[in-house]
Amino acid sequence: MVRGWLAAVVLSLLVIAPRPTLAADETGESADRAFIMGLPKAELHVHLEGTMEPELYLEMARRNGIATRYATPEDVRSRLRDANDLSSFIQIYEELVGVMQTERDFHDVALAYFRKARSQGVVHAEVYVDPQLHQARGVSLATLYGGLARAREDASRELGLDARFILSFLRDRPADQAAQVLEESRPWLGSLIIGVGLDNPEVDDFPAKFQAVYARARELGLHLTSHCDVDQPNTVAHHWSVIKLLGVERIDHGLNVLNDPALVEEVRRRKIGLTGAATLFYADIPGRMEYRAGAIARLLDKGLLVTVNSDDPGMKRSLYVGDLMLRVQQTTGMDRAHLAQLARNSFAISWIEPAQRRAYALRLKRYLRQSDLDLAKRPAGVR
Ligand code: ADE
Ligand code: ZN
Repeated sequence: MVRGWLAAVVLSLLVIAPRPTLAADETGESADRAFIMGLPKAELHVHLEGTMEPELYLEMARRNGIATRYATPEDVRSRLRDANDLSSFIQIYEELVGVMQTERDFHDVALAYFRKARSQGVVHAEVYVDPQLHQARGVSLATLYGGLARAREDASRELGLDARFILSFLRDRPADQAAQVLEESRPWLGSLIIGVGLDNPEVDDFPAKFQAVYARARELGLHLTSHCDVDQPNTVAHHWSVIKLLGVERIDHGLNVLNDPALVEEVRRRKIGLTGAATLFYADIPGRMEYRAGAIARLLDKGLLVTVNSDDPGMKRSLYVGDLMLRVQQTTGMDRAHLAQLARNSFAISWIEPAQRRAYALRLKRYLRQSDLDLAKRPAGVR
């Protein structure tokens, strides 16, 4: 009886007593944040257009004299709250991209992203860009690539960040459009554009449609990746097809590899990189972070070459790669050795010359040594 009463008092105290507010340092969060933000890493799955913050969107609309129905950045964010899946997001993405017109616009969007990324530890970025979206509005490739080339030079000089671009074809448009933009992009292939990808809504059997374009891209010496977005219809079949028909080296998202044990083995055997994105829409979708972060942790535990990426940070709550790594860590309970492995993977699957890869590996090793993390010590459960 007395024990029951005591237990009730203790329980009520626990429930109603205000929890002491711990300083961030005491919870370890601030130390984890500092560790993650300083961790040298490569970002491999981010869309130039999706890095555009609402403030910059409005600034470009103003200076280009483009009418917009949004008066404030909050209005844009509110519109972005309508996005809760891939197609609804792409609809808004395509609408917002409409303000990008001049070489300066492409330069400014890219450089703003590079500054943000560098502040979160990114030293190398391979950035998706959708030329077909811009050509459809009459923007020339010279305007688009001219702006990106200047931003790349500025990022190198100002930030010491090395940037390259991935020419992305739109999966929901005809393959001959893709073939045409690939040929038209030839003057920029090599130093500025180092690979091709596929994005936009995931339509049925898209890999088969792009087989010839990918064969041509390979012939031109380009690297190959493709989106397989999370939980799309026929996702397992799409993962198999991008591997078998397109010969990709990486899959963007790729978390549904977990749906098929044979796929896990194939991805491991071919050392295919999986550029996971633990992104969050403005609209809250309960369980989304837990689901995606959990999948990334499981892929890491299986020894696959998975990474954390920001995808469309300007249009998804301004969460950049460091912010997302912190969320993933907090959601899954990963330790620093896991985070180090994610960074190691990002360099391992990046498309850089071997000498540069070695330099990044050394930089990471030095950082981990300074942070008292023995590089040779692999995280528990990660091969
Ligand atoms: N375009 C921009 N972000 C995308 C994503 N995550 N998937 C497909 N297309 C996109
Ligand atoms: Zn993406």
